[in-house]
Amino acid sequence: MIIYNASTKEFHLQTQYSSYIFTVLKNNQLGHLYYGKKVQHRESFQHLMTERQRSNTSYVYEGDERFSLEILKQEYPSHGTTDYREPAFQILQENGSRITNFEYKSHDIYRGKKRLDGLPATYVESEVEADTLEIILYDALIDVEMVLSYSVFEKFNAITRAVKFRNYGKEDINLTRALSINVDFFDADFEMIHLSGAWARERYMKSRKLEQGIQSITSTRGASSPHQNPFLALKRPTTTENQGEVYGFSLVYSGNFLAQVEVDHYDVARVSMGINPFDFNWLLESGESFQTPEVVMVYSDDGLNGLSHTYHELYRKRLARGKWRDRVRPVLINNWEGTYFDFDEEKILDMAKESKDIGVELFVLDDGWFGKRDDDTSSLGDWFVDKRKLPHGITGLAEKIKELGLEFGLWFEPEMVSRLSQLYEAHPDWIIHVAERNRSHGRNQYVLDFSREEVVNHIYEMMKKILSDASISYVKWDMNRYMTEIGSLKLPANKQREVAHRYILGVYNLYERLTTEFPDVLFESCASGGGRFDPGMLYYTPQVWTSDDTDAVERLKIQYGTSLIYPISSIGAHVSAVPNHQVGRLSSLDTRANVAYFGVFGYELDITTLNAQEKEIVKRQIGFYKDNRNLLINGIFYRIESPFENDGNVTSWMVVSKNQEEALVGRYQVLSLANAGLKRLLLKGLNADFEYQIEGLDGTFYGDELMHAGLQIDLFPGEDWSTDFSSRVFKLERK
Ligand code: DGJ
Repeated sequence: MIIYNASTKEFHLQTQYSSYIFTVLKNNQLGHLYYGKKVQHRESFQHLMTERQRSNTSYVYEGDERFSLEILKQEYPSHGTTDYREPAFQILQENGSRITNFEYKSHDIYRGKKRLDGLPATYVESEVEADTLEIILYDALIDVEMVLSYSVFEKFNAITRAVKFRNYGKEDINLTRALSINVDFFDADFEMIHLSGAWARERYMKSRKLEQGIQSITSTRGASSPHQNPFLALKRPTTTENQGEVYGFSLVYSGNFLAQVEVDHYDVARVSMGINPFDFNWLLESGESFQTPEVVMVYSDDGLNGLSHTYHELYRKRLARGKWRDRVRPVLINNWEGTYFDFDEEKILDMAKESKDIGVELFVLDDGWFGKRDDDTSSLGDWFVDKRKLPHGITGLAEKIKELGLEFGLWFEPEMVSRLSQLYEAHPDWIIHVAERNRSHGRNQYVLDFSREEVVNHIYEMMKKILSDASISYVKWDMNRYMTEIGSLKLPANKQREVAHRYILGVYNLYERLTTEFPDVLFESCASGGGRFDPGMLYYTPQVWTSDDTDAVERLKIQYGTSLIYPISSIGAHVSAVPNHQVGRLSSLDTRANVAYFGVFGYELDITTLNAQEKEIVKRQIGFYKDNRNLLINGIFYRIESPFENDGNVTSWMVVSKNQEEALVGRYQVLSLANAGLKRLLLKGLNADFEYQIEGLDGTFYGDELMHAGLQIDLFPGEDWSTDFSSRVFKLERK
């Protein structure tokens, strides 16, 4: 998987379908040669070097007009010595200099992959799954080392990268920029795809043609955010869902990030990604080291679906961890949209009883069970039960729910404190803030200073007590406010720009401790819905509450966009009441479930208000999901028709089992059309030679016919697309 050629000092990293090649340049720094479709190995790739004579630039060596870093593709570039593009890192030294010279010192290639200190990352279960290359670069003047690590997951078809800085020098240095990757391409004939949006409309697929200059997406909020996801892809203009080249870059991190493409004056694209350098500085004292988060790079020439398949498989098998990673998930009901803060034990037990009768397996008690929380103005941080609402405590309620035959789950918002709370009264200095400056507000709460160990310890102890005292098998971990006035009372002035990153390390630390302490608990992450749906979170929680927007039509875009990287086994999706609480839309119970099946399925409504007929429908839906959840969680997901293309009126997708013996297809139409043409659906991922039966249709169909001639939806008896928000889910099984 990793070949080193000592005579040319070239490294060739090969996955099943891609090659990544770089070399040591004559200035002893690292130059990049190629990333793309797998090429066969050869003695030398030096001819791929872009060393050329160009007018009007600067050169490294006097008299050598071909060697300019501005023209050469590089592996992990610096600024200030003939390359004028944005660098991968920058080090501010005590004398004010930012000039460095990191030269190749040595390298090591080994089987397997090491864990990253304090950070989530992909992992191996056996050493043969990945090979790792660690290259040590060294700047002798400041006695600082940089370790560039590359892990090649051959079968998964992915390469991961991260960087570690080690300061052996006598002086302290400041990392003012420490990105995780840099990739220089030959050209810039790409479109950049990113997942952007806002609260309740997260991860819409956006695409723009690269142009000369910098195009970037970032977060500065202290969380990866619903506005931009830490991901970008470069696709060729002709690439579609099903064919063509695309490169994906996904950052395993949950805080402020930068993902950027710089196109220079020679139309060369440079991709860089990592912790956002804006408002970041890390004081690396003598003897200390700093680890960047990991980026997962994937190349596919099978279009966007091909890219997604790689990320889905890697993230569900070698990023997510724990008991729940490979298991089907329980059908849950969450009381949030059903009751909001207005509930008591009797109400919850009524809901639980009826839920059990229709097949629900897990009852989740959301916000409002602790302190004196009747609305969102108080009590975060006071993680002890409100006996007015729950006289028998969480322990008593959990027991009763267990007796009904249901599992019990509980909501927390561990990283926050309300202004009106005992915790804030006791420790007003425990929040992220700057002394003598206004403390801005968000949902009447502050962000706890998780850069401080004692704060994390305190929350850990409180949560541990509740999780130990009661029978709790699921935790929803929410986070509903972004950082402002970023500062920590505990840190000295020259470390204040470390707070946002230290905070995320604190969050990871708490997750690590709780998931280790309670290995049987299923954790679901949430941040006002999908405000922190990122690979960092997936390491601790195999599923994420995708969006506070539960409307079926809105969810088409949200789930479609999210599926570009994240497996549907991570996409929390609930059927909620109508009129929908976010957009007021009335869609049928069938359509609401038809969308939610393609996620981690559940309900979020007051089940006691449904009439007998609706309860029967829900019972049938839950039965259907249980029959198919193994296929849905473990199958291969294909996007077929995009809500972001054409007029967005039709969306379709499907999941095919790995052995291609069965598949589930979902098709959705937003508005009905008068006198519409025939509707043909070109299925994907089937076995061309298998003969399939389709539920609801007579006869059989070969896989090749279904994929190339397509299936006429109108063939279904009684097919009716004449109302708005109509949908159909159907199953295929090999005969
Ligand atoms: C935001 C979450 O996304 C909701 O599902 C719910 O848990 C509320 N917070 C509770 O305050």
